Amino acid sequence: MKKRIAVLPGDGIGKEVAKGAIEVLQAVGERFGHQFYFQYGMIGGEAIDTLGTPLPDETIELCKQSDAVLLGAVGGPKWEKKPAHLRSEQGLLRIRKELGLYANVRPTSYYPSLADASPLRKEVIEGVEMVMVRELSGGIYFGKPSERIQKNGEDGVVDTLYYQRAEIERVVRLAFELAVERKGKVTSIDKANVLESSRMWREVAEVISKDYPDVELEHMLVDNAAMQMIKNPKQFDVVVTENMFGDILSDEASVLTGSLGMLPSASLSERGPYLYEPIHGSAPDIKGKGSANPIAMILSAAMMLRQSFGMNEEADAIEQAVNQVLDAGYRTKDIMTFGKKLVTTDEMVGEIKATL
Ligand code: NAI
Ligand code: MG
Repeated sequence: MKKRIAVLPGDGIGKEVAKGAIEVLQAVGERFGHQFYFQYGMIGGEAIDTLGTPLPDETIELCKQSDAVLLGAVGGPKWEKKPAHLRSEQGLLRIRKELGLYANVRPTSYYPSLADASPLRKEVIEGVEMVMVRELSGGIYFGKPSERIQKNGEDGVVDTLYYQRAEIERVVRLAFELAVERKGKVTSIDKANVLESSRMWREVAEVISKDYPDVELEHMLVDNAAMQMIKNPKQFDVVVTENMFGDILSDEASVLTGSLGMLPSASLSERGPYLYEPIHGSAPDIKGKGSANPIAMILSAAMMLRQSFGMNEEADAIEQAVNQVLDAGYRTKDIMTFGKKLVTTDEMVGEIKATL
């Protein structure tokens, strides 16, 4: 097969891990006889510095004309204090809007060989198999107004949490579709005891669940969910929640597998192309040190092969190679434990390619 892949490496370790994922994809292409065409686009801080905008129109066009998009990570201290239109995360928010990416799907699986890299006891995390579905293009990260205001002569500030019913429906439906193929349980997380938006979310989840009689629906308040995720993560199968709750809970879930550097994600839209990215950021603290874990990015590429191209065998091959390399004891610094072999980003990529 021939596929066009837009690659947006971004900033910091985004560049380092994207390079690794491309090499792995090239190895897959050779082994399975596919031609992957990689075309690069700018996003984030680098785009601000060279073109004066965090998301140039050329990048949007490139993405729209591609079969799938691979994104590294954006951001860094250099751009954090700039006005909104010159901040790197605006590039990320806008590409999600432009491509209609309404759901971010984040699987979290237990890696037996990494059991000792998690601060949680093995009995707690053994066998964890969950997928978090985070609403991605609505909620408080997009609602207007979002600004400083003066009220009664006092300094104040406002952010807005807004959802259309249809936006809630499509992301909750996606969660149910995933649950049908898995263990048949959806946990919908909200704050319905306080927020009106959550009460509507709950209502919608109840309505959608009628279409899926074989899937169990459970509601959970977000504060309790934050605790349950650590206390008894095995209870979860598919978790669905609004944008900000999902942002926070999915970072929390990363602790279960050992490191942010292990978790991939897929962002889905109604029409495609879909976008794949690791859940971590640009990690300025380790930039250029060769210690970034490329696995989250490589597993994101595997998700792309399966989800966007239907290349199941190829995706399995990458996942197996990653498992074998971990079983063999190779570790980047973030997952390093006593007695294992410490490797750099490039060495980890090299081992995974060699195993493929
Ligand atoms: P971060 O995810 O970049 O880093 C958090 C911690 O995890 C750091 O100590 C980092 O070294 C470590 N880490 C992350 N990925 C790793 C990897 N692959 N291998 C080894 N260690 C890894 O989050 P942080 O520090 O809050 O944000 C840094 C910058 O990234 C900010 O500018 C932020 O806005 C941006 N960011 C971008 C995201 C994206 O592009 N999707 C997501 C989250 C943050
Ligand atoms: Mg986040």
